[in-house]
Amino acid sequence: MGTMRESANPRLRNLALFGGEPTIPEGPPSWPLADLAVQQALEAAFADGSWGRYHGPHVRTLESRLAEYQDAPFALCCCSGTFAVELALRALLVKPGDEVILAGYDFSGNFRSIESIGARPVLVDIDPASSSLDVTLVERAVGPDTRAVVVSHLHGGLVPMSSLREIADRRGLQIVEDVCQTPGGQIEGRRAGQWGDVGVFSFGGSKLLTAGRGGAIVTAREEVYQRAKSFCEQGNNAFPLSELQAAVLLPQIAQLDARNAIRRDNAKFLREKVRRLSGLAPIDSTPNESAAALFKLAWLFDEAVFAESRENFLAAMRAEGVAIDAGFRGFTKRGSSRCRRVGELEHSARAAESTILLHHPVLLESRSTIERVAAAFLKVHAAFSESNAT
Ligand SMILES: Cc1ncc(COP(=O)(O)O)c(C=O)c1O
Repeated sequence: MGTMRESANPRLRNLALFGGEPTIPEGPPSWPLADLAVQQALEAAFADGSWGRYHGPHVRTLESRLAEYQDAPFALCCCSGTFAVELALRALLVKPGDEVILAGYDFSGNFRSIESIGARPVLVDIDPASSSLDVTLVERAVGPDTRAVVVSHLHGGLVPMSSLREIADRRGLQIVEDVCQTPGGQIEGRRAGQWGDVGVFSFGGSKLLTAGRGGAIVTAREEVYQRAKSFCEQGNNAFPLSELQAAVLLPQIAQLDARNAIRRDNAKFLREKVRRLSGLAPIDSTPNESAAALFKLAWLFDEAVFAESRENFLAAMRAEGVAIDAGFRGFTKRGSSRCRRVGELEHSARAAESTILLHHPVLLESRSTIERVAAAFLKVHAAFSESNAT
């Protein structure tokens, strides 16, 4: 956690600015959850010895649970969300020299996953309201070598997938739908991850479904599933999720919908409390008949309004006890030898410079804890606004 750089403005010194580690809520770290069902799963995996086996019931059960949850016939677990994106592209037969459309602001590993198979990212801008791929720009990014789109739903925003599906079908593109940040989300009446040819999940240590590490792909296309499976079978399962990881994920899937609903409710409350703060624009755009799964809550911080840096605002928030950080760096500075760009990518550049992200664990806490987070926003915002006025 960074501390605040010396501010030019003496009024900011009234804040508890230094040395802050997140302390809202108080007590032991709130993620992963101290979940009794997870503890029981760990103990059962110990008692029956499955924790130390190559093969056991848990990975298979998790795959069928995930497939059922996504209403898709096939799911395959693997070692991470990052690898799952690469695996999806391989299984969709994206080849060296092909182009893959990607938002100019996204998780850095997605750019690398495209490169790792020898394909070339084609960057299109984001919709600033959702912080995710602007679907209206996809069609003009399509060239003779373009084969696929990697689309992530980021920071509480959701991509209007029916439009993207329609464009992809018309232009012969395949979709890798990255739901690493939004497992259990609903988009236009269907689960996030169901709209893509492949849906991608992460079970990394900070994620809503966590096993410390891990990932999965889900698809309705049998040949895609078979290709992914045979790529992973390199003599053994070379990119596995372990039995123990699968065992702890099973009870979390059962809780996912209920926990997502609590997170949404608390997020709505918090966003309302801070909605009218100048210089902090919320990212919360979702299509009709949709419900986000909230891994992060995002705002765009307008440095011009405060005459103070985003980093100083974040440090001040952390000093108030709030777990909050900057967003992704994005790809707008990547050279043309590595990617093709479509348009100016101005919203992606702005997102990279201005996004602030509140981490999700607090969203399962009590209303009074959420009130404390809101109070921290108001206090820091007021101090930064005053400092600008002097
Ligand atoms: C949008 C997105 N995609 C992919 C990943 C990669 O997941 P993993 O950490 O399991 O490799 C992340 C991780 O933060 C992510 O946010």
